[in-house]
Amino acid sequence: MDQSNKPNYTLPGIEGKIKLLNEKNKEALLGGGEKRIEAQHKKGKLTARERVELLMDEGTFQEIDKFVIHRAKDFGLDKEHYLGDGVITGYGEVNGRLVYVFSQDFTVFGGSLSETHAEKICKIMDMAMKNGAPVIGLNDSGGARIQEGVNSLGGYADIFYRNTLASGVVPQISAIMGPCAGGAVYSPAITDFILMVENTSYMFVTGPNVVKTVTQENVSAEELGGASAHSTKSGVTHFACANELECIQHIKKILSYMPQNCEEIAPVYPYEILEDESREVLDSLIPENPNHPYDIRDAVKGIVDEDSFLEVHENYADNIVVGFARIAGRSIGVVGNQPQSMAGVLDNDASVKAARFVRTCDSFNVPLLVLVDVPGFLPGTDQEWNGIISNGAKLLYAFSEATVPRITVITRKAYGGAYDVMNSKHIGADLNFAWPTAEIAVMGAKGAAEIIFKKEIAEAEDPEAKLQEKVDEYTAKFANPYRAAHRGFIDEVVMPSETRIKLIKAFKMLENKVDKIPRKKHGNIPL
Ligand code: HXC
Repeated sequence: MDQSNKPNYTLPGIEGKIKLLNEKNKEALLGGGEKRIEAQHKKGKLTARERVELLMDEGTFQEIDKFVIHRAKDFGLDKEHYLGDGVITGYGEVNGRLVYVFSQDFTVFGGSLSETHAEKICKIMDMAMKNGAPVIGLNDSGGARIQEGVNSLGGYADIFYRNTLASGVVPQISAIMGPCAGGAVYSPAITDFILMVENTSYMFVTGPNVVKTVTQENVSAEELGGASAHSTKSGVTHFACANELECIQHIKKILSYMPQNCEEIAPVYPYEILEDESREVLDSLIPENPNHPYDIRDAVKGIVDEDSFLEVHENYADNIVVGFARIAGRSIGVVGNQPQSMAGVLDNDASVKAARFVRTCDSFNVPLLVLVDVPGFLPGTDQEWNGIISNGAKLLYAFSEATVPRITVITRKAYGGAYDVMNSKHIGADLNFAWPTAEIAVMGAKGAAEIIFKKEIAEAEDPEAKLQEKVDEYTAKFANPYRAAHRGFIDEVVMPSETRIKLIKAFKMLENKVDKIPRKKHGNIPL
């Protein structure tokens, strides 16, 4: 508030002191003032405080550092102070569990980050680390407080450093509810989940004006870095939410699948196993023609607890599906090839998307269920030149180093390197099931026949007929799960309808699994 307009706190004695506190509390609640709050609402945005109230269980939020003000003096800042300095920080409960929150207040210097603003965020991050609870960041900021120069940049770096140290220790969730530009994007980028709100939020390293100057492209902020761009094109955001309310509900949902920290497990919901857990609908899920698509989400939904599937990265790299679910009340992470999109092939984006999700689950002790229907890796110059070798390796690496309970169900195709990569027995999966429709081989029958019987086919009187004969021979030999089951690479061939009960029992059996990777400073995942 402009110091010339400050209330006159002159009442003497205790009464005066109490009045002073009350006045200061009132002042803090107003942030940048009523006009700016009105402007915020006009943009269809809630205020920082309203967001915190929506997030936390009623009456649980405890604010800290409410009276912090900045220390800057340049460019008139010595005359302009707002209690709280543009960020509301504190702790409270979400569904009865402790969380820490910071919520940037756009009504104060556009939510820009000053040295003290950063110190407030760092303080609650340090508390979250000491006390083992998630940190939720509600971002709405014009970036570095321009008047503070390098002090602000240092403040950002202090946060980035803590984000990195907290990674894999406590869950970190970033909701983008307004601007988030320049280097500021790197805090959310390090956290476990990003959520964006459609039409009122954007993220980019350089904005439309710089883009125009450098590349001559004309692009709006929304096109360049809105929720839609980042949920479909870049994969930067995990969720695109229709509005702020939906965004906050999603944060609560994500938290429900996560433990408080890496030493704990996610909350277990009460579940009584029914006498009949079979799901007959799954027996007719796989089409008769092995080249016809189906929706892997129908398999997921048929296996997990009703209405428990929360898809992550829904609109990005949809040839692979990832998300959280529960099985008999216990949190699991699901990864499944999606035959409905590009036949479920693994490409660069799908590999990276799944690898990241596998590592998120493993960091936080969330067991993995992997559903496999994959024809292989996508061929082509685009894929090779964009690094399918290193990107595919990320997924292989992520599964291989995961020590959480890991179960695979091969529903149909498991071909080539993709068979190995998709949580095969060989890379440490605990239990590998296959449906009777599974086909486990080096490649599809036609490709295989064309290579290994090349000469025979070429020399045949009717090469077409010969090719078909060899395709049939190869199919009969390999288009089934039994070769792998003979070797013990598949632990059991199960009826689709019985998969759920098998998995309930299997995950229960693996509940106390202890597995360690060799001691090292850290692995060198092919980034
Ligand atoms: C100080 C800022 C500010 C900033 C906005 N304000 N951004 N004050 N530092 N970075 C103030 C404005 O002066 C204004 O004050 C109020 O916030 C609201 O801003 P408006 O421009 O009126 O709002 P709007 O039209 O909605 O535009 C929002 C905006 C725009 C797009 C964010 O303000 C803007 O472009 N700001 C600058 C963004 C920027 O370049 N930031 C630095 C990026 S570099 P009054 O008093 O009028 O309410 C960076 C580096 C980080 O962040 C590096 C980390 C490694």
